[in-house]
Amino acid sequence: RPNRPQNQSGPSRGQNPHSSLSLSTRRELYERDFPVYKQPVEVGCFSLDSERRFFNDGRQMRYYVEPDRSPNFDLRDGYKDRFIKRDDSVKEKLDHMLRWILANRSKLSARGTTASSCDLDIDFVTWRGHLTKLLTAPYETREGWQLAVTRFRGTLYISEVETEAARRDQENRTERHEEMMYWGYKFEQYTCADTDHGRPDPGGVLNTNEAFCTVVQTRLADHRLLFSGEVDCRDKDPNAPAAPACYIELKTSAEICTPKQRSNFHRFKLLKWWAQSFLPGVPRVVAGFRDEEGVVVAVETFPISKISHLIKNEHNCWKPTVCMNFCSDFLSFVKHIATEDNPSVVYLLSWEPRRDVTFSVHRDSPYCFLPHWFVEEMTS
Ligand code: A3P
Ligand code: MG
Ligand code: MG
Repeated sequence: RPNRPQNQSGPSRGQNPHSSLSLSTRRELYERDFPVYKQPVEVGCFSLDSERRFFNDGRQMRYYVEPDRSPNFDLRDGYKDRFIKRDDSVKEKLDHMLRWILANRSKLSARGTTASSCDLDIDFVTWRGHLTKLLTAPYETREGWQLAVTRFRGTLYISEVETEAARRDQENRTERHEEMMYWGYKFEQYTCADTDHGRPDPGGVLNTNEAFCTVVQTRLADHRLLFSGEVDCRDKDPNAPAAPACYIELKTSAEICTPKQRSNFHRFKLLKWWAQSFLPGVPRVVAGFRDEEGVVVAVETFPISKISHLIKNEHNCWKPTVCMNFCSDFLSFVKHIATEDNPSVVYLLSWEPRRDVTFSVHRDSPYCFLPHWFVEEMTS
């Protein structure tokens, strides 16, 4: 019964939150000891250039340049005339990660280079962002998700499917919201240089096709994970610790003026920030707090290891152990249901807030996401 959380103060009789075909996201089911989460190890990286082309190297890495504590960066600058926005109607699924896997297969092979097997020594392959959604699900009240899962040569591949609601939201964004999505990237441009001795170039064109991604390997309970996540920048000191410990996540947030705003920041924003960076072992977030006009009025560093202490005074706040135990149980649930090893079978796991996770099975459907070039090269 892998869908049933173990060692927990179980649900009282009659509530039956776990059928064998669904998984509950109720927080109280996941309040047990923190699961084993091995220190994530970077096994490689890749870059996407200004035209979203893949390179099996770190050419898009950027270097953090510490700004003044109150830098007055204007995040609106360049939105109209120096902004090239990635086309988010193009669904890339796991393709960049799969390219990286093919280029680095020897690093991952279970039995090295012997002819007997070329299977990966990994249970799950996915994006860090998909895992972030799993970690935060027990606390999410607004946005559901759908995750497509395919078992292929013993490894489970997880790729997100856009929900109808997300597609509608995307189509109905206001002009203000569109512009505010630019602000986070603009903050990166004010604080990052292309080389360790360089300076940021806020007068340049901002192109959101460009990305540097780390690929990490780790283990959550008995699940061996390989995932990739975009990294904003690194410490420019060449003596900084090895990746991922030298990486820095950049964030923007509305300035905090009232106790209510502080509480919301702790309860909602820090949860997302913690989950995103804890997963790949990125140790700190640098936050730019901006006013309503998009001017950064303060910059503050948040060590990830201190976030769980920062939030302890909040009433009824989120708990890292609930996030990690839910994720672990979700992965057990996936292993239990996604039994057929077949690249053209998709198990679609769907979740809406206040509901259980449910699934459906699809054969040779539009949900299939492992491309032929990947399946063929992995099979040959
Ligand atoms: P902020 O994080 O400052 O909001 P990331 O922080 O993950 O590196 O993402 C960089 C920026 O991309 C974000 O900056 C935000 O501007 C934009 N962004 C990322 N995910 C988004 C989403 N789901 N909706 C809107 N904007 C998003
Ligand atoms: Mg980023
Ligand atoms: Mg960021």
